[in-house]
Amino acid sequence: MKMVLVALLRAAWVAATLPILIASMPFSRLNSFHRALLGFAKRGKIMQSSSNKFTVPQRFFLHFYVVAVVWTTLLVLATWLYAYVMTPVVSEPLLFSTIASHLTGGSHIFSFHKSRSTPVEYRIRVWQSVFLLLLMEVQVLRRLYETIYVFNYSPSARMHIFGYLTGLFFYTAAPLSLCCIFAPEVFNFAANLVAEFIVKGKGHMPDIEFDWWGCVNPLLKLGWCQWIGAAIFIWGWIHQFRCHAILGSLREQSEQIDEYVIPCGDWFEIVSSPHYLAEIVIYAGLVVASGGADLTIWLLFGFVVANLVFAAAETHRWYRRKFDNYPSNRLAIIPFVY
Ligand SMILES: NC(=O)c1ccc[n+]([C@@H]2O[C@H](COP(=O)([O-])OP(=O)(O)OC[C@H]3O[C@@H](n4cnc5c(N)ncnc54)[C@H](OP(=O)(O)O)[C@@H]3O)[C@@H](O)[C@H]2O)c1
Repeated sequence: MKMVLVALLRAAWVAATLPILIASMPFSRLNSFHRALLGFAKRGKIMQSSSNKFTVPQRFFLHFYVVAVVWTTLLVLATWLYAYVMTPVVSEPLLFSTIASHLTGGSHIFSFHKSRSTPVEYRIRVWQSVFLLLLMEVQVLRRLYETIYVFNYSPSARMHIFGYLTGLFFYTAAPLSLCCIFAPEVFNFAANLVAEFIVKGKGHMPDIEFDWWGCVNPLLKLGWCQWIGAAIFIWGWIHQFRCHAILGSLREQSEQIDEYVIPCGDWFEIVSSPHYLAEIVIYAGLVVASGGADLTIWLLFGFVVANLVFAAAETHRWYRRKFDNYPSNRLAIIPFVY
C-alpha cells in the first residue's frame, strides 16, 4: 500500500511536469502544443479570451486554499499524533502501554512492543514529515488569508477549468507528498482511533495525557538540514508575503478594479513574477528540510519550477507587450538568468 501511494504520486508529478517541459522546448514543431498548453494554463491578466467557455472566475483560487488548509491540517494533526504515540524520541512506557491496551485489547498495530522497536532512522523520518507538514500549514494558511483579504481579484479575471482542476490536484497531492512514506500507517492509526471513539464513545476512550514538551521536543532535535531548509522557506515566505501585498495594493491607487499597472518594490525590481520566484524558494526550502533524499519531494519541486517558469515567461511577455515603459532590466523569474 505504501509503495503504491508513493508510485502513484511520483507518476502524477512526472505526468504533470513532462508536458510543460516538452512545450517549453525551442522547436517550431512544438508551437501548437505550446499554444494549447498555454491556453489551459492561462489565468487573470494573461488570459485575454473573449469567450468564457470552460473557464471559472480566478477568485476560485480560494477553493485551492480551503482544500489545502483542511487537508494539511488533518495530515499534520494525524501524523503528529502518530509520531508522538508510535515513535517517541523520548520513550514514554506508561503512555504507550495504556493506549495500546485500551485501544487494541493487547495486540494490534498499537502494540507497545512495536513502538519501542521502531528504528531510530524511521522515528527521525516521521518527525521530519511532521516538520515539513507544519511548514506547509504555515504556507497555506497565509495563502488563504491573502486570497480573502489581500488580493483584489478583478471580476473579469478567469482561469481555464483545466487550471482549476490542476490547482485542486496540486493542493491535495503536495501535502500528501511530504508524508507519503508514512501516510498509509498514519491513516490506519487515525482510522482505528476514530473507530474506537465511535464504538466505545468518549467516556470509554483512554485518557491520553499530553506532554506538550514531548510533542515539541523531537521537532527541536531534528538536524541542521531541517533548520537550513526552514530558513530558506521563511526567506521565500517573507518575500512572497511582501510581493503579494504589493500586488494587492496596486488597485487601491488606480480608479478601475480591473486595471493593470507596473508593480514596483521588493523583488519586483529584478523580475516580473517575484511571487512565483518566492514560491520556488519556498519549495526549495521544503526539499532541503526533507534532507534531499526523497524523490517524491524532488518531483513535486520539479513540477512547481516547471509550472511557474512557464507561467512567468508568458507574464513577462504580456508586461512587455502592454507597457512601452516596462523596465528593460527586469527578467522573467530567475534573477540574472531568465
Ligand atoms: N505552487 C504552484 O504550482 C502555484 C501555481 C499557481 C499559483 N501559485 C501561487 O499563487 C500565487 C498567486 O498566483 P496567480 O497566478 O494568481 O498570481 P497573479 O496572476 O499575479 O494574480 C495575483 C493577484 O494580483 C493581481 N495582479 C497581478 N498582476 C497585476 C498587475 N500588474 N496590476 C494589478 N493587479 C495585478 C491579480 O489580478 P487579476 O484578478 O485581475 O488577475 C490577482 O488579483 C502566487 O504566489 C503563485 O506562486 C502557485
